[in-house]
Amino acid sequence: MAEYITINGISHKVNLAVLPPDITLNTFIREHAQLTATKFMCQEGGCGACVCVVRDGKRSWAVNSCLTLLNTCANLEIVTAEGLGNQRTGYNPIQKRLAKMNGTQCGFCSPGFVMNMYGLLEQNDGKVSMTEVENSFGGNICRCTGYRPILDAMKSFAVDSNIQVPKECADIEDLKPRNCPKTGLA
Ligand code: FES
Ligand code: FES
Repeated sequence: MAEYITINGISHKVNLAVLPPDITLNTFIREHAQLTATKFMCQEGGCGACVCVVRDGKRSWAVNSCLTLLNTCANLEIVTAEGLGNQRTGYNPIQKRLAKMNGTQCGFCSPGFVMNMYGLLEQNDGKVSMTEVENSFGGNICRCTGYRPILDAMKSFAVDSNIQVPKECADIEDLKPRNCPKTGLA
């Protein structure tokens, strides 16, 4: 029987009968929905490259999409880095701060860090402490930047943050995902 999942406001029909039973959310996002900002590397929950945000209408949370079976995602809403912002529609404040505060080099890990932070903020109505931020990134690995600039960018969103933010990144009103230009959906 066909199910539907929504990715960045666009509904995707999923016919589980014709897909491998162990297909993951990560494979569906990348190979079927053709959204490749969500990366993968370890495929075992250790690197965080594959993190995206899942909503069920009441709650939202960040997941490792490599460990999430597609057959558990029926009727869920998925948000990936493409849904938060991009070059054409403008970037989300988390994406902006990560870039402007020198938290990205090759960029491979960046969508995972961004989505993990987005999930944390959404889950807590935007109110997190520096300690909570620090404790939430144990599952995200970066092989090139070094963690200090990344964590500084993320901790700068904490309510108790005293981290200096570049002037062009100070506006956080736009933390929600951008609406899809075609459908108008978030
Ligand atoms: S690919 Fe999912 S955690 Fe590494
Ligand atoms: S910026 Fe290269 S892996 Fe993190």
